[in-house]
Amino acid sequence: MKPVRTLISALVLGGSLGLAVPASAEAPFGNQADMEMATSLWALMEYKGLAGDNAVMTRPYKGVAPHGMILELIELPVTLHGHTGPLIVKRNYGGDGISVDDVINDPERYLQAVTIMLKREPGYDADNRDWFYVKYDARGNVMKNPKGMPLAGRVAKGMQTGCIACHRAAEGGDFVFNHDRYK
Ligand code: HEC
Repeated sequence: MKPVRTLISALVLGGSLGLAVPASAEAPFGNQADMEMATSLWALMEYKGLAGDNAVMTRPYKGVAPHGMILELIELPVTLHGHTGPLIVKRNYGGDGISVDDVINDPERYLQAVTIMLKREPGYDADNRDWFYVKYDARGNVMKNPKGMPLAGRVAKGMQTGCIACHRAAEGGDFVFNHDRYK
């Protein structure tokens, strides 16, 4: 039996869209499909040496808020569930007064989060250039916002703060800040 509240919201939502779908499937992020995608993507990233214990180290650099004091950035195309698109992986390191050398010497100690953007199939989020966002902890668990919503998917579409709201400001309208770094 579904809880009454879910059933009612499903009916209201289903009614307004002309669809009989559960409300959770409509959430722009943190829904079941997003979580499954985030899990497969982490496995792919581990396989490709982009995350996890055998992750390849790149040259870290000093970052700016909100992503952390020291960052690493990797961009490459990946194929997941039959679609190929660019994946941007950002490793976020933090800790009191850490330097680039501290991170190079002991990355695991300072890794606080792995934030990614994956370009999905056209129409996934046409208003926002079809990016899929995830914020993982160092072990690959999807992190949550203060309201307890998992940070995976179109985060946080329609809201005034969050990945999309901020990345929308990137120059050139591609939602990627680092593409404008050397301008
Ligand atoms: C308050 C603004 C802000 C928010 C919120 C934000 N970012 Fe960013 N993000 C930035 C800035 C600025 C950069 C570029 C500077 C840097 O390298 O940190 C960036 C860089 C990135 C990059 C590297 C690609 C790029 O745009 O240069 C990824 C991947 C990324 N963010 C993921 C995320 C994810 C996932 C979230 C949400 C969980 C998020 N960001 C939330 C501001 C933000």
